[in-house]
Amino acid sequence: MLVGFNHPVMVGKENEYMAQAIASAKISGDGAFTRKASALLEQQLEVPKVLLTTSCTHALEMFAILLEVQPGDEVIIPSFTFVSTVNAFVLRGATPVFIDVRPDTLNLDEKQLEAKITARTKAIVPVHYAGVGCEMDAILEIAGRHTIAVVEDNAHGLFGRYKGRYLGTFGAMAAQSFHETKNFSCGEGGALLINDPTLVERAEIVREKGTNRSRFFRGQVDKYTWVDIGSSYLPSDILAAFLFAQLEQREKIQNQRKKVWSYYFENLKDWALAHEVALPTVPNYCDQAYHMFYMLLPTLELRQGLIVHLRQHGIESVFHYLPLHLSDMGRHFGGTTGDCPVTERVSEQLVRLPFHNVLTTEEQERVVGAILEYDF
Ligand SMILES: Cc1ncc(COP(=O)(O)O)c(C=O)c1O
Repeated sequence: MLVGFNHPVMVGKENEYMAQAIASAKISGDGAFTRKASALLEQQLEVPKVLLTTSCTHALEMFAILLEVQPGDEVIIPSFTFVSTVNAFVLRGATPVFIDVRPDTLNLDEKQLEAKITARTKAIVPVHYAGVGCEMDAILEIAGRHTIAVVEDNAHGLFGRYKGRYLGTFGAMAAQSFHETKNFSCGEGGALLINDPTLVERAEIVREKGTNRSRFFRGQVDKYTWVDIGSSYLPSDILAAFLFAQLEQREKIQNQRKKVWSYYFENLKDWALAHEVALPTVPNYCDQAYHMFYMLLPTLELRQGLIVHLRQHGIESVFHYLPLHLSDMGRHFGGTTGDCPVTERVSEQLVRLPFHNVLTTEEQERVVGAILEYDF
């Protein structure tokens, strides 16, 4: 491929910090770099507590444990999302209730939310798709009226904002991803943002295999022991060192990604208009996180045709997500065709263009040039 879809690179002091972590002979979790990365996120986002995790998937699993999700509880989740958003709750015995997305932002359709709520609803999980904020005012108002927890899947949205406030700071908790495809990465990694201070102590326990090891290290108890359920959700300090170096460069990374996104938007908008292709919608009260650039082609055939056309030009493009309610597991929970029509449609229409921190203007010219040649 001449232009790859993703290309994770070092952007700052990753090597230096990893070497420091190794030299300090403290490479398990919660070392100096874990503390630095968590503190950076706590200060920048003004979140009471940030715990680094081994993945966003694991932060989502922690949501379900911390909310004490039980078999029979229902959790409202958009069908248009990654499998981990739902799997985390199903692991604890919950029943997923799939909700459709808005046709403009592809975020949870808040107008359909009230109708999905029952006496068993335990949580609502907005996913800030492509790092563009969900309609949080409406979602929080509805959830508040029914006393239901809101927990945000913010895998795409670090440093994005809704009405001036950072994504990930609205719900009781939020999950971040530092997988290699994300704006900031350590290969595999994540974080749990905890906005509800009453959840902090138990979150530390759950992340430490169900032990009160964190309290022991702070000198609050004289021995540590098994006090709750939990697992091993703590990343190595070598990964935290890599991540901290990336987070230090957040302004540079976000500016670069904004440039990439804007180039695509400016250079594709006339072609898109002429061919009835939809480009991303970003409401004026949302500062997006510049996570990805996607387009919605008029049909599945045209989308597949574009992916092949780009491949013939040495350009890698990808699509996602398949509707969760129509997956094998989704059908097991009663999902059928027609439940979430917008999800079903956009899942066939969406294509993501190459997007990463070192994508050059020459590479983008090549991508745009090939797309402009795709006539139909
Ligand atoms: C919306 C969403 N949630 C969760 C995840 C899982 O992230 P991770 O790979 O860090 O577990 C992803 C992965 O891309 C995602 O897109």
